[in-house]
Amino acid sequence: MSMKRLAAAALVFSALACASMGFTQSFSVELGATRGPVQPIPFSHKTHAGKLNMACRYCHYGAWKSPWANIPAMSTCMGCHKIAVADRPNIQKLTGYWDRGERIPWVKVHYLPDHVKFNHKRHVLAGFPCQQCHGPVQNMDVVYQYSSLKMGWCVSCHRKYLNDPTHPATMDCLVCHH
Ligand code: HEC
Ligand code: HEC
Ligand code: HEC
Ligand code: HEC
Ligand code: HEC
Repeated sequence: MSMKRLAAAALVFSALACASMGFTQSFSVELGATRGPVQPIPFSHKTHAGKLNMACRYCHYGAWKSPWANIPAMSTCMGCHKIAVADRPNIQKLTGYWDRGERIPWVKVHYLPDHVKFNHKRHVLAGFPCQQCHGPVQNMDVVYQYSSLKMGWCVSCHRKYLNDPTHPATMDCLVCHH
């Protein structure tokens, strides 16, 4: 085999290895083995956004106004929990952070590499519901990463909206990359 073909074969092989790794990863997510991280306070979206029917906007208003969706400040929680179920141990733990003036060290669920730019406002104002990318968060006790967040995932949607009359997307490398 020539060097060129060898290199090509190596490339195909590593692409296949990645693809099968991706497959086992999404498979284990489906089996529930790698659902979301353990959080310092067992905050449940299923309780707040599901059962109590709170709007995503109540806590993540940044998603409509800026590139980033904010994680709510503790004052948002304490607006209810100074009183609501204040006797429960997890709320006492929450109140402990508040009284000490500490931030809750939430574990981040979603990561994009530093060379990628994403913009919530643009997607949300274009009409995509949060669930399109994040899945049925209102049914999740623990939030987990629902979409791959791989370039192929972004680009395959952008391709569909290339000629959209009101919200055309783009394939320009520099729109997504620094
Ligand atoms: C009462 C406030 C509250 C409401 C309402 C709420 N969230 Fe959250 N959300 C949080 C908090 C606190 C976290 C960080 C802890 C965690 O990951 O569970 C979070 C985390 C997330 C994350 C993961 C962020 C990361 O680390 O990458 C996503 C995605 C998310 N929320 C989406 C939603 C969506 C979609 C809705 C509406 C269906 C919603 N949230 C409603 C408070 C809220
Ligand atoms: C609009 C009012 C409201 C807001 C805002 C709110 N909660 Fe709650 N939360 C509740 C209510 C009511 C319950 C009890 C629900 C039940 O048990 O059915 C609850 C339950 C909980 C529980 C479970 C307690 C237990 O052990 O049973 C935790 C933990 C919690 N909330 C954390 C938070 C955090 C963290 C925030 C801020 C990100 C927050 N909540 C914001 C109303 C609220
Ligand atoms: C088009 C897909 C898409 C839509 C629609 C979307 N998100 Fe996201 N979200 C992402 C991606 C991608 C990330 C990771 C961004 C990063 O790491 O920079 C993310 C991250 C987050 C985070 C973590 C904080 C951050 O900004 O990195 C929260 C919270 C969140 N999203 C909430 C929401 C809520 C609430 C909505 C609906 C109002 C929403 N998202 C709509 C793709 C989306
Ligand atoms: C569900 C479809 C969908 C997904 C998934 C999606 N996008 Fe988009 N994106 C769009 C559309 C449609 C627009 C155009 C919105 C507009 O014009 O208001 C857009 C716009 C953008 C913009 C703004 C472009 C500009 O001109 O400033 C950036 C940046 C972007 N997307 C990056 C990403 C990245 C990075 C990902 C993956 C992590 C992603 N998008 C995933 C549909 C999507
Ligand atoms: C719609 C958004 C989007 C567009 C357009 C886009 N990328 Fe990406 N790209 C991403 C995201 C998200 C990642 C990080 C996730 C991943 O590695 O798949 C990425 C990763 C990469 C990587 C790193 C791959 C790795 O294995 O580390 C390279 C190189 C790259 N992109 C090049 C390009 C080039 C060249 C173009 C233009 C032809 C382009 N991208 C257009 C979103 C985009």
